[in-house]
Amino acid sequence: MKKIIATKKTPPKILGYNDKITVGNLTYTVQSRLGAGTFGNVYRCIPQNPTDQAGIIDQVAIKVSQDDPLHLSVARKEGTLLSQLKHPHIIHYIDKDPTGRFLVLELCSQTLNTKIKQSYPGLDPAIAQRVYQHLLSALVYLTKKNIVHRDIKPENILEKQIPKSPTLESLWKLADFGTAAKNPGKATCRVSTLTFSAPETLIHIDNAYTHSYPSDLFSLGVVMYETVTGKPLLNRLEDHLTDSKNSELLRITLTGTQPGSPLKHYILIKSPLKPYIEQALAIDPAQRPSAASLLEEVSKTGRSLQG
Ligand SMILES: Nc1ncnc2c1ncn2[C@@H]1O[C@H](COP(=O)(O)OP(=O)(O)O)[C@@H](O)[C@H]1O
Ligand SMILES: [Mg+2]
Repeated sequence: MKKIIATKKTPPKILGYNDKITVGNLTYTVQSRLGAGTFGNVYRCIPQNPTDQAGIIDQVAIKVSQDDPLHLSVARKEGTLLSQLKHPHIIHYIDKDPTGRFLVLELCSQTLNTKIKQSYPGLDPAIAQRVYQHLLSALVYLTKKNIVHRDIKPENILEKQIPKSPTLESLWKLADFGTAAKNPGKATCRVSTLTFSAPETLIHIDNAYTHSYPSDLFSLGVVMYETVTGKPLLNRLEDHLTDSKNSELLRITLTGTQPGSPLKHYILIKSPLKPYIEQALAIDPAQRPSAASLLEEVSKTGRSLQG
């Protein structure tokens, strides 16, 4: 739930099949709507002339921002930030228009959220291990670039099938940099989604919230909990709770002091990733390992899973 205060505007127009979007000197034709979020809509599009400037890219995703100054400024910031990043596990930026209205991205097939829903009770251990490894490697890269994502959750993690992969393996990519920030520090409002938030980001001290690299790691731990168990750590309905109530619920859940808490369910799960998920979910951010050291451990698990 992002804290973007909506201005009173007419709802964004939804584009339909065959509508055109022009970015720079390329015109794209809308095929279908891929998703909707706080910002607007994302569409699957094909360049009108796929053989020119777009090279071999025959399909793209275009994120269309709502057309008001607040959303456009956030979208411009997202485009600028993404254009500076290049990593196999971060959504690949292709183009943007100067107003911020359109952001052209590589096309992915589905979100981790959809994959989890199709795979109850939890993803196959080898796939879950790849998800964790890929996302940790994205976090290591972001840490080096001094960037915090601040909204890591299954809807913002995308699957990209590797073309012609004999094993049907895919790449997992971190997307939605709308709330990402350079040089983490204090923020005046909490931006992350409540049920994925690290406890320290729920505490408002000196009129500010702190969200740093360990907070992103905690959110990834929450994502991985859901990935291996098929169940959310905290019920999404809790997103309406206040920060302090959520913080208390998190503490109870993670310390397992309440009968029937999700952690008890999790303890029963025989996942080789269990210890590494628990490390990311440490309540005290100082107790969480760095993304780099966790990546090393999780990569070793991958080698043993492959036999
Ligand atoms: N590159 C992409 N390829 C495929 N689907 C995407 C892509 N980018 C976004 N989507 C879909 O659109 C949804 C919203 O996009 P997102 O960037 O998360 O916007 P918001 O900031 O509004 O949450 C995602 O959850 C996903 O379903
Ligand atoms: Mg999103």
